[in-house]
Amino acid sequence: MQNFWKNLQKPIVTLAPMAGYTDSAFRLLCRQHGADVVVSEFVHTTALYYNSKKSLELLRFDERERPYVVQIFGKIPEHFSASVKKIAQELQPDGIDINFGCPAKKVFNHGAGAALFLQPDVARSIIKSTVEATDLPVSLKLRISVKDASAVDFVKRIKDLPLAALTVHGRTYEQGFTGGINFDQVAAIKELVGDIPVLANGGIMKPEDAKEVLQRTRADGVALGRGTFGKPWIFEQIKSYFATGVYKEYTLEQVKEVARTHAWYLFATKQQHGLIELRKHLVNYFRGFPGASHVRQQLVRVATLEDVECILANYTLLGKQVSK
Ligand SMILES: Cc1cc2nc3c(=O)[nH]c(=O)nc-3n(C[C@H](O)[C@H](O)[C@H](O)COP(=O)(O)O)c2cc1C
Repeated sequence: MQNFWKNLQKPIVTLAPMAGYTDSAFRLLCRQHGADVVVSEFVHTTALYYNSKKSLELLRFDERERPYVVQIFGKIPEHFSASVKKIAQELQPDGIDINFGCPAKKVFNHGAGAALFLQPDVARSIIKSTVEATDLPVSLKLRISVKDASAVDFVKRIKDLPLAALTVHGRTYEQGFTGGINFDQVAAIKELVGDIPVLANGGIMKPEDAKEVLQRTRADGVALGRGTFGKPWIFEQIKSYFATGVYKEYTLEQVKEVARTHAWYLFATKQQHGLIELRKHLVNYFRGFPGASHVRQQLVRVATLEDVECILANYTLLGKQVSK
């Protein structure tokens, strides 16, 4: 197994998988702004098993995204082995990540994602089928607990398997996506797995949060979710902060430049539909700037690249130097 995770400089700073957000355009932007690794949106192994073209399309990537990891979920071990063979053959990403953390009803009630914490034997069999079907490094994404099943107990049952890395979302299943991060549980998992890289995830919105999380968990790195919304440059800010203790905010002009690039990448990968998806990102880019609510009302209606250019060109702060 070629485990690229072990060759990365620490602390590792990654883009966490997010359905509806971490498509090829956004991943590339994050890589170009300092993310060490990027992860796809999750894809159902059963859909891949039945040759869903749409699912495979969702996983396509640009070579510049490497190291690129594909995240899969499901509940049937044979579908995992068939899927990773297909993924390796069709796409050749750098790694595979298995989702054991999703609390969404349609995933959980179906026995996949976080529900697999409650069926450790099935979870083990899924990991085993996956690692045996591929040479790619296989990582896992976990929550700290689901009902009365803890990640520590879960990891104890599977840590003899060849795991490449773990991302631990420091919230419980019951917490969903809000509330405090349990640093102690993430630290306990790091302690348990020794030299397997562990990435702490949850609530990192600025470089200072990343530093605190690393200090309190002793993890090898961090995975960023919503902290990247409207600021894919947060990765370079984190790296600057670790290296020098300071980081620069982006000015409105710099933000506009990133937003334009994002529009071009989305158009190149998804054509017209990409511009509909762009709307939610544009709103995030300009949140917090003076007078932004007016421009956001225009941005949620963009339909062409020209619309984007025109709205951004007209949006100025009348000479004020503002950053976010
Ligand atoms: C819109 C959205 C989609 C997500 N999709 C996935 C996914 O496909 N796979 C996954 O493992 N986690 C997914 N997550 C969870 C994130 O990867 C991350 O664990 C969670 O948001 C906590 O990190 P944060 O507080 O930095 O956002 C998603 C989260 C959000 C907000």
